[in-house]
Amino acid sequence: MLLENKIAVVTGAGTGIGKAAAMKLAGEGATACLLGRTAGTLEAVKDAIEASGGKASAYVCDVTDETQVRATVGAILCDHGRIDILVNNAGMSREQPFLEMTVETFDAIMTTNLRSVMLMLKAVLPSMAERKSGNVVNIGSGAAIRGLPGSAAYSVSKAGVVALTQALGDELRPQGIRLNVICPGPVDTELFQKSERRQFILAAGGDVFDTETVANGILFLASDQSKGMSSQTLVMRGFNRW
Ligand SMILES: NC(=O)c1ccc[n+]([C@@H]2O[C@H](COP(=O)([O-])OP(=O)(O)OC[C@H]3O[C@@H](n4cnc5c(N)ncnc54)[C@H](O)[C@@H]3O)[C@@H](O)[C@H]2O)c1
Repeated sequence: MLLENKIAVVTGAGTGIGKAAAMKLAGEGATACLLGRTAGTLEAVKDAIEASGGKASAYVCDVTDETQVRATVGAILCDHGRIDILVNNAGMSREQPFLEMTVETFDAIMTTNLRSVMLMLKAVLPSMAERKSGNVVNIGSGAAIRGLPGSAAYSVSKAGVVALTQALGDELRPQGIRLNVICPGPVDTELFQKSERRQFILAAGGDVFDTETVANGILFLASDQSKGMSSQTLVMRGFNRW
């Protein structure tokens, strides 16, 4: 067990990568605190974790809402005493050629993918700094490394997550907090299945990961298996092109 007695918060934990990550961390002994907007989906993940002998709590929280984020983090600290691991995974994608993209779309993607990460960090990091211990894994994207045509806003938001990780990783190193970011290529989740680029990517040779592989990367960064590693980007791709 790599995460015995750890308290791990995962945002967007009801589906896809977040669900796989929550199950993986709980399988290694962590108590998984599941954040998402839909109670029923979170309860289903909680039930699945408990059915396999793990521990989990569900918290309905829209991570774009500062008041909800602060209240939820407060509730977790009250229920569990501390947060050892934070996985900022919640995100959205809406593909639109830039000439058709509305300012509202840009704002919605930035709010969900980048501003929410900042809100979660503002709420969680003070308690980690106080304890001089903490581990944050942010979920970026391959689109952060190489801007994805048709997904300008998404690419920019994820590049922001990488820069935020690097800046804070160095800034909070003296406080004993590690921050790293995973940039996966396409992962076989609903987000990818709905993507207009799915056929193009599949035709270009696959390079599609399953959620379990990304969850393994999250476990690596969230555990002492990556002890000492901070401010880094783990790119999970099958080859180096779109
Ligand atoms: N699937 C891919 O190809 C891929 C590739 C690289 C990165 N990512 C990133 O991985 C992360 C997880 O995506 P996924 O592929 O599992 O897709 P997904 O749509 O299954 O998961 C995203 C989750 O975030 C939740 N969420 C969205 N907005 C939220 C909000 N405001 N408050 C709380 N929860 C919210 C959704 O409800 C959902 O459960 C995202 O950040 C995504 O950008 C995905």
